Amino acid sequence: MHMPDWMAQGQPHIWLPYAQMKTATPPLPVVRSHGSRLELADGRSLIDGVASWWTACHGYNHPHIAQAVRAQLDAMPHVMFGGLTHEPALTLARRLAALLGPGLDRVFYTDSGSVAVEVAMKMALQFWLNQGERGRDRFLSFRGGYHGDTFGTMAVCDPEEGMHSLFRGMLIEHDIASLPRSEAELAALEAHLEIHGQRLAGILVEPLVQGAGGMLLHDPEVLRRLRRLADRHGLLLIFDEIFTGFGRTGTMFAFEQAGIRPDILTLSKALTGGTLPLAATVASNRVFDAFWSDDPSHALMHGPTFMGNALACAAANASLDLFETEPRLAQARAVSAALEAGLAPCRGLDWVRDVRVLGAIGIVELDGIADREALKRRLIEAGVWVRPFGNVVYMTPALTIGEDDLASLTRAVADVLGRQRP
Ligand SMILES: Cc1ncc(COP(=O)(O)O)c(C=O)c1O
Repeated sequence: MHMPDWMAQGQPHIWLPYAQMKTATPPLPVVRSHGSRLELADGRSLIDGVASWWTACHGYNHPHIAQAVRAQLDAMPHVMFGGLTHEPALTLARRLAALLGPGLDRVFYTDSGSVAVEVAMKMALQFWLNQGERGRDRFLSFRGGYHGDTFGTMAVCDPEEGMHSLFRGMLIEHDIASLPRSEAELAALEAHLEIHGQRLAGILVEPLVQGAGGMLLHDPEVLRRLRRLADRHGLLLIFDEIFTGFGRTGTMFAFEQAGIRPDILTLSKALTGGTLPLAATVASNRVFDAFWSDDPSHALMHGPTFMGNALACAAANASLDLFETEPRLAQARAVSAALEAGLAPCRGLDWVRDVRVLGAIGIVELDGIADREALKRRLIEAGVWVRPFGNVVYMTPALTIGEDDLASLTRAVADVLGRQRP
């Protein structure tokens, strides 16, 4: 592969994510992005099947977001949020609260998904402490879940897929259960909460899709069950919509499909249309009220340096404009139908265990991937950027991806998977 000078010189100084630096294939040098395309330094153009870890929901370089960020850059790129405030952040908070509907009223900004989940956990813990209730210092989370890479969030991820064994002894031991998909699992969870509910602060779940933990789907009924359990045991229900938010599952937010609402919700990824880092933890007034006090120690003790970054908030406001002015949810439904049709040929393959689609997420689960790097290389040779993990090859393209590119994407995946056992 052609390596431009800047890469040859910089590569010895960079440390890449989730990569064994000694053996990993070097990353692809990207020089431009536009729409659903990545242009490489050697002139190749790849169809992006993952929208940069599910962020670029409007495709790359949408002119409306670019223009909003440019205007904000001229006016004021960033000011600290401690003691100062600004229009893009407050307008965004008002718009998010309106979009999320009653019961999700207060927005706390951070700059990454993991930290948004940390803040949600901190809010839940302090919610109880501020009311004088001690001992509620654990969370219930679920096998197959992923909530981030920080120490707080690693502890609530799936214990097998996550980093529990690597950091044993350094992570808090939370209660990690099976999602209550069946009556038996529901009964087991109910029994668990009868005994241990008193020491829990809340229940944390990715609604409808457990993403980075394995691309596992569950139905809205599971969420209704969790809402009932949370209410029965007086626990806060936290939905991590960092992956699912902003149209990815076919509705603006996944929780809408269950007809219930969480007490706290986290957002990031597509919040800025994938242009700038920003995350939000949104709480109900009931949660917020537990912090509303004459006692300074009841304040939420968190405040990242770049919280409420004005450029990122301007990008997020522009992204919300696009959800209002362009038919994004209809596009997500069209992507869904095309993924369903385009991935159908994979169903017949001996080594394919399952093909599942929800909204603009297409997942092919294999019975194993012997050589992920080789599979990734074959996909790149076929002209697509898709990043298999575990036993899955998944696609989360931009909601705006063109029909032709989407057909080429699914055809490439089906051809590559069909050619040989990966
Ligand atoms: C559901 C969910 N929560 C949290 C995170 C962590 O977000 P970040 O990588 O921005 O820290 C992710 C990232 O993939 C995610 O999918």
